[in-house]
Amino acid sequence: MSTDTLVAPLVEVRNLQKFFGPSAKPVRAVDDVSFSIQPGETLGLVGESGSGKSTIGRALLRLTDSTAGTITYRGEDLGAATGSRMRTLRSKLQMIFQDPYASLNPRMRVRDILGEALRVHGLAPGKEATAARIAELLRLVGLPPEHAARYPHEFSGGQRQRIGVARALSVQPEFIVADEPLSALDVSIQSQVVNLLCDLRDQLSLTMLFISHDLDVVEYLCDRVVVLYLGRVMEIAPTEELFSRPLHPYTHALLAASPKPDPTLKLVHVPLKGDMPSPVNPPTGCVFRTRCPHAIDACAQTRPEVRDMGAGRFKACIRDDIELTAMP
Ligand SMILES: Nc1ncnc2c1ncn2[C@@H]1O[C@H](COP(=O)(O)OP(=O)(O)OP(=O)(O)O)[C@@H](O)[C@H]1O
Ligand SMILES: [Mg+2]
Repeated sequence: MSTDTLVAPLVEVRNLQKFFGPSAKPVRAVDDVSFSIQPGETLGLVGESGSGKSTIGRALLRLTDSTAGTITYRGEDLGAATGSRMRTLRSKLQMIFQDPYASLNPRMRVRDILGEALRVHGLAPGKEATAARIAELLRLVGLPPEHAARYPHEFSGGQRQRIGVARALSVQPEFIVADEPLSALDVSIQSQVVNLLCDLRDQLSLTMLFISHDLDVVEYLCDRVVVLYLGRVMEIAPTEELFSRPLHPYTHALLAASPKPDPTLKLVHVPLKGDMPSPVNPPTGCVFRTRCPHAIDACAQTRPEVRDMGAGRFKACIRDDIELTAMP
């Protein structure tokens, strides 16, 4: 996949901020986050629960308004798009949800679920074209065409997620946000859905933001990874480099705490101290410092900027003198 910076990004997020609640004491769900996604790239978004992953995903699709910052799609400011332009853009940007059951209308047959999306965007008009397109979509996600007559409850969890994928694909999107698309599925069928996403991405040249807790899947599926903590970017790196040599203490802790850490990685497991602080009252300076085994006084003073470390790597940590992948 291309991470060539000479190619214009498909999606660019600049200084994105999303606060919830009263402006005097807001929940700082996303605070000054910047990254870009190249065409054809799959970007992973990881971080503990509450770090702001879903909020970023929703902001990218304009399912939620941002408090500040810009999101551009092919250079166009999404925040400035209104009316029919937004409807067009909506078809280019699609979401695959965590819970395929909750996101499918139980009273609609599959053909109506898929047909509705086609109709709204004026795709495949006419009965025959619609039916043909629905059959094609089902084939794409590995389901037989006769399943078009079924209702969501007649499917297994994995099949329902396939329908969720088919619905997202029905409008011929270029960019997909997949927010924990596997976490509601049985472990035994997760790999099938991962393989499906992988195949479709390659076949349809999709660009993807892949949000997940499962670092194994992120390592397998993503070209680059953004690591979030308390609404801030801690580290951005190409997947292989991130997993073999994390630069940020938080990334290190996250990898070491994963249930199946890479056996070639000699990570010293330093358990994180305490709980994640409240996003209403984030620590001064580096938000991770209260749990960081490497924090020094200076970490409390100023918020570390996300620094370019070369070779496509970025980190928000002032310490360059610590060895994170030490031999035990
Ligand atoms: N509608 C809302 N109103 C108030 N606070 C919210 C709202 N949505 C999210 N938050 C808060 O924003 C922060 C980020 O939430 P978000 O759902 O984006 O995290 P996440 O990384 O997706 O977590 P998870 O891994 O559990 O899905 C959390 O503190 C959450 O409680
Ligand atoms: Mg989430």
